[in-house]
Amino acid sequence: MRRAVCPGSFDPVTNGHVDVISRSAALYDELVVAVLVNPGKAGLFDVEERMALLREATAHLPNVTVDSFSGLLVQWCQAHDVPVIVKGLRAVGDFEYELQMAQMNRELAGIETLFVPTAPQVGHLSSSLVKQIAAFGGDVAHLVPAAVNERLVAKREEETP
Ligand code: PNS
Repeated sequence: MRRAVCPGSFDPVTNGHVDVISRSAALYDELVVAVLVNPGKAGLFDVEERMALLREATAHLPNVTVDSFSGLLVQWCQAHDVPVIVKGLRAVGDFEYELQMAQMNRELAGIETLFVPTAPQVGHLSSSLVKQIAAFGGDVAHLVPAAVNERLVAKREEETP
C-alpha cells in the first residue's frame, strides 16, 4: 500500500491545494491531508473548520482522508507509517524553503518529499491572498471551493457592522 501525506496550514484550502491534492491522490493508494495545529498562530479558521472544509473539497476523492497534527511532521509520518510527504510548488520562491525542509525531514527520519508543480492556472494562489481579498469584499469564488467561499462571505458579513 503506497501512502503519502500532504501537510499544510490550509487556512483555508484553495483551488491550488485541491489541484495538488487531487493530482497526488492519483499517484498513491492513500493520501492523508494533514492540517498543522499551531498554538502560536490562531488563523482565520480554527483547525476543526479547516478540516471540515478540506473534507468537503476532497469528497470526490475516495482515497483522500483528512487529519491534523502538531509537533514535527516526521513524527506524525513515523507514527502513521507514511514514508512520503507531498508538497506543491508554485514558483521558485517556494523552492528554497521547501528544499531545505525536504532535506531536513529526510535527515531526521528518512522521509522522502515529492514536489508537485502546481497547474499554471492556480500558481498565483495563496491562502493569505485569498483571505486579504475576501476581507476587503473582493470576489474569490473562482479561487476557492464553493464551501470556502460561502464561509469567507459569511465571516465578512459577521465582521461588517
Ligand atoms: O501551508 P504551510 O503553512 O506552508 O505548511 C507548512 C508545514 C505545516 C508543512 C510546515 O510548517 C511543517 O511541516 N510544520 C511542522 C513542524 C515541522 O515538522 N518542522 C520541521 C520542518 S523541517
